[in-house]
Amino acid sequence: MANNDKLKIKIIIGSIRKSRFGDKAAQFIFEETKKRDDMNVEIIDLMDYPLPLFNEPISPSRITTGKYDNPVVQKWADKIGEADGYIIVTPEYNHGYPAALKNALDHVYYPWNKKAVGFVAYGSVGGARSVEQLREVTIELQMAPIRTGIHIPFQVMMEIFNKKEGDKIDHFLAFRQQAGDFLSQLAWWTRALKNAREAEKSKNAPL
Ligand SMILES: Cc1cc2nc3c(=O)[nH]c(=O)nc-3n(C[C@H](O)[C@H](O)[C@H](O)COP(=O)(O)O)c2cc1C
Repeated sequence: MANNDKLKIKIIIGSIRKSRFGDKAAQFIFEETKKRDDMNVEIIDLMDYPLPLFNEPISPSRITTGKYDNPVVQKWADKIGEADGYIIVTPEYNHGYPAALKNALDHVYYPWNKKAVGFVAYGSVGGARSVEQLREVTIELQMAPIRTGIHIPFQVMMEIFNKKEGDKIDHFLAFRQQAGDFLSQLAWWTRALKNAREAEKSKNAPL
């Protein structure tokens, strides 16, 4: 597929702990995206965007200029704005998703709008409780969360954390088939919404 037709997908690592599992889960889904030719994919690490706890004077839903006073928020908004769709990789902290991820979601509004999002989660129930919360929050951001998610159980996380030198076992194997279906669904919604956004733009464009 021609490069400019490819979908721009950002994989967001929702955990900022140094010894996290999040980067391993992000790497797994990143590798799966490389099996397709319709996506340009980048991993975004919240650690590279040290956002303050949200304290902006006005709601991001009132910022229509795309300009933010705080340079870190500006960098975050610009990066989020580049994407056609997202994969959010999330753990579960006390049956919810991390505060750092909520903070990052809250900091911008328009850059998320009318774009698809899929979730890769992990934990004792595969991060399912985090994902259910994220579905509600992302709808409020005018995103379209896809049905299929990838849910990695605690046992698999432990096997990967405890991996010994020379261990050649593919601990993500069981999730690779599922990742194919997940990415196809994400691509469908991302493409549909990209086309709709472009049609809207050209309708509003001056003749
Ligand atoms: C503050 C805290 C709360 C946690 N609560 C849960 C939980 O509710 N459910 C769960 O499955 N795992 C829970 N865990 C365990 C995490 O699944 C595990 O630590 C995982 O590695 C966290 O993701 P991360 O390494 O990417 O930060 C919790 C961990 C932390 C640090």
